[in-house]
Amino acid sequence: MFEMGADIHTSTLTVTRYLEGEPATIELGQRMSRAITKVFSESDASLGVVIYLQGDLGAGKTTFSRGLLTGFGHHGAVKSPTYTLVEPYEQLSPRVYHFDLYRLADPEELEFMGIRDYFEGQSVCLMEWPSRGEGFLPPADIMIDISVKAPGRSALLTALNSKGEGILTSFLS
Ligand SMILES: Nc1ncnc2c1ncn2[C@@H]1O[C@H](COP(=O)(O)OP(=O)(O)O)[C@@H](O)[C@H]1O
Ligand SMILES: [Mg+2]
Repeated sequence: MFEMGADIHTSTLTVTRYLEGEPATIELGQRMSRAITKVFSESDASLGVVIYLQGDLGAGKTTFSRGLLTGFGHHGAVKSPTYTLVEPYEQLSPRVYHFDLYRLADPEELEFMGIRDYFEGQSVCLMEWPSRGEGFLPPADIMIDISVKAPGRSALLTALNSKGEGILTSFLS
């Protein structure tokens, strides 16, 4: 349902980080929010950003999302949208939609919940368990893989197109 467009890209821009404890995962999310804000302010692109979050249960995907949300100015709790599939944060600028598709039985359900609307305009979509929505999700600009590496976590950030590259470049600067 989403067109790949012309921006198919063989990106090699990757960043790896060792996150020695929960605060480091939060800080990674906050840094990502600053990078996105910078890219949005420097371009007039109205298109949103899609971030796929990969990793086992308990890896730290929601923790990263909490960091990103607080980085955009969210105060208060960040609940895991495991049962609601999506938690909107529309009071933020940019708007953030936090998806958790773990319990999605059929990816076609995404059509019924009007998933297209979430990707309109300048929004950030965080997607936990994107594999459950395969075929019904827009492609990601950035993929973040988190894995447990005791005592902390290891994060691999990959830019999947030029927009993602712009964000990761800003993240590194
Ligand atoms: N860098 C880290 N090192 C150690 N523990 C972490 C780190 N980041 C997050 N955690 C912990 O791991 C768990 C991850 O939970 P959560 O973020 O809900 O995972 P997920 O959304 O991937 O299922 C939480 O208990 C959190 O405190
Ligand atoms: Mg989670």
